[in-house]
Amino acid sequence: MNIDKLIKLSKKPELFKRSNAEFWNDPHISKKMLEAHLNPDWDAASRKLETIDASVKWLSENILPNQNIKILDLGCGPGLYASRLAKRDYFVTGIDYSQRSINYAKKKVEEDKLDIKYIYQNYLTIDFEDEFDVIMLIYCDLGALINKERDILLEKVYQALKPGGIFIFDIFTDKNRDASNLRRSWEVAEDGFWSKKPYLALTETFLYPDEDTFLDQTIVMTDDKEINIYRIFDHFYTKETITDLLDKFGFRDHSYYSDLVGREYSRESKTLAIVTNK
Ligand SMILES: C[S@@+](CC[C@H](N)C(=O)[O-])C[C@H]1O[C@@H](n2cnc3c(N)ncnc32)[C@H](O)[C@@H]1O
Repeated sequence: MNIDKLIKLSKKPELFKRSNAEFWNDPHISKKMLEAHLNPDWDAASRKLETIDASVKWLSENILPNQNIKILDLGCGPGLYASRLAKRDYFVTGIDYSQRSINYAKKKVEEDKLDIKYIYQNYLTIDFEDEFDVIMLIYCDLGALINKERDILLEKVYQALKPGGIFIFDIFTDKNRDASNLRRSWEVAEDGFWSKKPYLALTETFLYPDEDTFLDQTIVMTDDKEINIYRIFDHFYTKETITDLLDKFGFRDHSYYSDLVGREYSRESKTLAIVTNK
């Protein structure tokens, strides 16, 4: 092991410095992530099935204007929301850039004989115009984007919505993590989450206070001297900061909830769900 290199890699990187390896589309990690998505009792890659069911129920009874509308689910994963919405007669398109999740979703749609369009694509490259009644981005994914990409996505969502269309998403708030207690941990495994080769993983959380952003950085070293660095950013928001952002991109009439099950907005909530309009 080259300790000098490790010391250098462990330093706090500049804000939004990218990973040097694929996360969502890595063959091994995406397999582990799909297992996490499909575990009904984990709030890991997707929320627990019980929460997803409650969310779809709340959305369809309170937020979605009527059946027979076109919904775009960005970062749909294995289609847990899309399939439930399609069963309630909404026309759903799901986009994700995990090939493994999209393959799973496509297979499931055939088995369940549902009418859902799944597209394997980076959602930062979508180019729809006035096409969808509703666009969803679920499980705080807006906060994982670097600011430049977040702005691209907000522009594209606005463009893809029909006039009056609805954008539904959630985010983590400043109450989600304790900024005074930043994590440092390590793991050795023979075949674990990060690699099927034996590895040592060093994880550290950094805070960029001026940008309201955490970084979870994991350095993964395998015995063949390969070093992969995974950087997952987590931009947290308050009601005020997300409102400013939505106003800037032209959205209007925002409604705020504590989560996508419709819990009343509270300043103390760790998540914030927003329903806004074009
Ligand atoms: C935290 S998971 C949430 C999945 C789903 N929304 C749910 O709650 O069950 C994030 C998903 O977004 C996808 N994703 C992340 N960035 C993406 C991008 N730029 N384009 C398309 N999909 C993306 C990932 O592959 C993953 O399936």
